Amino acid sequence: MIVLGIESSCDETAAAVVCDGQQIRASVVASQVAVHGPYGGVVPELASRKHIEAIVPVVSRAVAQAGITAKQIDGVAVTQGPGLVGSLLVGFSFAKGFAYGHGIPWIGVDHLEGHINSVFLEPAPPPFPFVALLVSGGHTSIYHVTSHLGYQLMGQTRDDAVGEAYDKVAKMLGLGYPGGLIIDRLAAQGDPGKVIFTRPFLDKARFDFSFSGIKSAVGRHIQTHPPIRHADQANIAAAFQAAVVEVLAFKIIHAAREKGCRHLAVVGGVAANRGLREAVAQDAAKAQISVHFPSPALCGDNAAMVAAVGYHRLKAGERSGMDDDVYSRVKSRPVD
Ligand code: KG4
Ligand code: ZN
Repeated sequence: MIVLGIESSCDETAAAVVCDGQQIRASVVASQVAVHGPYGGVVPELASRKHIEAIVPVVSRAVAQAGITAKQIDGVAVTQGPGLVGSLLVGFSFAKGFAYGHGIPWIGVDHLEGHINSVFLEPAPPPFPFVALLVSGGHTSIYHVTSHLGYQLMGQTRDDAVGEAYDKVAKMLGLGYPGGLIIDRLAAQGDPGKVIFTRPFLDKARFDFSFSGIKSAVGRHIQTHPPIRHADQANIAAAFQAAVVEVLAFKIIHAAREKGCRHLAVVGGVAANRGLREAVAQDAAKAQISVHFPSPALCGDNAAMVAAVGYHRLKAGERSGMDDDVYSRVKSRPVD
């Protein structure tokens, strides 16, 4: 089954063509980083406008790259939420029109479910059940995953998402937007032992997170230690990353142990982080647990992961209807 995936939940307009939920024939991502960079964050109104400009060219490019014609597409999968409503509506409305015009089924997909399923686009996906750490700009959660569409929330952040904390720390250090990748690179040049930030473990037996405290601690350190030169920036980035990564690695290994899983996955934009990949891989090897990371291009927002989920839903006979609408907030309730 050839599925066209469409993703427009935040500041990336993406389209992908995926066969049988596994084989990527094309994956196109048009980033709006240059548009939002000067504002230090995503401006929702601008994002919607840019999605409108990009959606048709991005889908056309994906179809052409896949070497197919639009007539060969069997179904459409599109991100329904969570995300920015104005942005989601562009992809969602396009998908409705495309499916209606071609007389093919279509399905709205949850963005987080997409991230969880991104590991199935890699050659050696984890067997079920496994635990997944989802780390992105909007979410930091741990799930027990029992099937492509079946998962239970084990814990999540009480305040900032880890990607959000990365972006805010980068902003405080005057490093630009989005900050995750910049901090990651800078951290490699710094000494993580020059400043020590308290590790926000909370209750070590539980799976919830808190990153706003460490973000504020970084802010206080910057204010009380002027001037902040390049070497100081690198040391702060390294110290911040070391603290965050230690907590994330500890909790996902602990979650795998609690559920008796021999496999874990780390997904979402922050899963591209080199420090995190290294720390989780090391701790998992010690615990004899195997780790699955999507390749960096599949960590950030993309439409291939949306098509992968759509394939399983369409195959199960699920369909969305013309009256369906997008949603802005996470569907599941926090675990307490
Ligand atoms: O999954 P994603 O593309 O979008 C959301 O669904 O939020 O994640 C974006 C987030 C941003 O906060 C960005 O700074 C962060 O992922 N990010 C990173 C890295 N690459 C992207 N954070 C840390 N290290 C990276 N290498
Ligand atoms: Zn995402």
